[in-house]
Amino acid sequence: MTRDSGLTSALCGRRVALLVTGSIAAYKAVVLMRLLMKEGARVRVAMTKEASRFVGEAAFSAFLNEPVLTDMWSRAGEPHIELGEWAEVMVVAPATATTIAKMASGVGDNVVVASFLAASGVVFVAPAMHHRMWLHPATQRNVRRLKSWGIHVIEPVEGELANGQRGIGRMAEPEAIVARLVSHFRGQKRDLAGYRVLVSAGPTEEPIDPVRVLTNRSSGKMGWMLAERARERGAEVILVAGPVALRPPEGVRCIEVRSALEMENAIRAHWQSVDAVVMAAAVSDWRPSQVHSSKIKRGDRECLVLELVPNPDILAGLGKERQGARPVLVGFALESENLVEHALDKLERKKVDLIVANPTSALGGDENEAIFLTREGAKEIGRLSKGELADRIWDEVRRLLKSLRNRD
Ligand code: C5P
Repeated sequence: MTRDSGLTSALCGRRVALLVTGSIAAYKAVVLMRLLMKEGARVRVAMTKEASRFVGEAAFSAFLNEPVLTDMWSRAGEPHIELGEWAEVMVVAPATATTIAKMASGVGDNVVVASFLAASGVVFVAPAMHHRMWLHPATQRNVRRLKSWGIHVIEPVEGELANGQRGIGRMAEPEAIVARLVSHFRGQKRDLAGYRVLVSAGPTEEPIDPVRVLTNRSSGKMGWMLAERARERGAEVILVAGPVALRPPEGVRCIEVRSALEMENAIRAHWQSVDAVVMAAAVSDWRPSQVHSSKIKRGDRECLVLELVPNPDILAGLGKERQGARPVLVGFALESENLVEHALDKLERKKVDLIVANPTSALGGDENEAIFLTREGAKEIGRLSKGELADRIWDEVRRLLKSLRNRD
């Protein structure tokens, strides 16, 4: 333990990998490492060859028990990825435009990006570059992509750059980076510890033939956020995920499924052992009545008629079979009109405890707008990021679970 004021405990004992890349700001990474150590973090360092043009390995290794990783290959000929697996927190500082581009496109050709690709914890990135490089659409797109994966970007600040010009591109000061990490960990509630929850996410894919499917535009982001936030708040989480382009969140048991029937089987295998089921998946209401065993040929037919049969309503099935009040059941209602009316109907018909009603504009983006409907009435939530909405949903679930506990 070091210093005062609760700052200490937030990073104390945490495994932090500091990844240093080739910018003039690399010398500040030494200061950053020392500050992290003062906070009680266990720090390991990796640096690229380009970084070593700006700061020597010895500047770090003098303070560390473990060698600085500079080479991606171990003696056994295996790529060094164990740093990524070891770290609870990964801080890429400074992160050059090239490193950010490699991270965004998965080019793990050096020890820093390879470690990042194997990361199992929270990732923070502190960019440092010339201001025009920072503002370039390619860099901005790459940064957006990293953010969309839940990576925390500590924005560069305005100031004098290496070439004497001014602009936005200077790496945030080491103190500011540490403060950001501290507030991230200090802000974490652990109020779902002891609960087991199941979240479904993403679309389903209903096969037509071996190559074609019927699906929808759900991105899976809402369910992912729900799973991540529940885990951060201490819950044991099972995520039943339809096909999405997202990496399974760390520390969450992820069961990958494709069709609604597979999703139903996966959920039914676990629903009775959890405290809450949150159905954020956009389950296809219909599936083709028959799956062709070979690809349907276009031939010279005028039209092709697909016959669809209804999929089971998974949530309504759980509502019907639930004995007593457990697990708490939460559904989503995505509506283009008469939002509250339709959502209330779902609350009754599916026999659930909470309906999160969204307008159709919520699909795919990073924000969501919602109204919560419970038996006690409607609560307007307004427009929030999906992460914040996920927290509000867990607040409500926790309230419902606590009222059950009081009744038990
Ligand atoms: O009736 P609607 O599809 O709008 O209901 C949405 C809610 O019901 C969502 O929580 C969704 O995950 C769930 N659902 C389901 N099985 C279906 C269709 C929807 O569990 N076949």
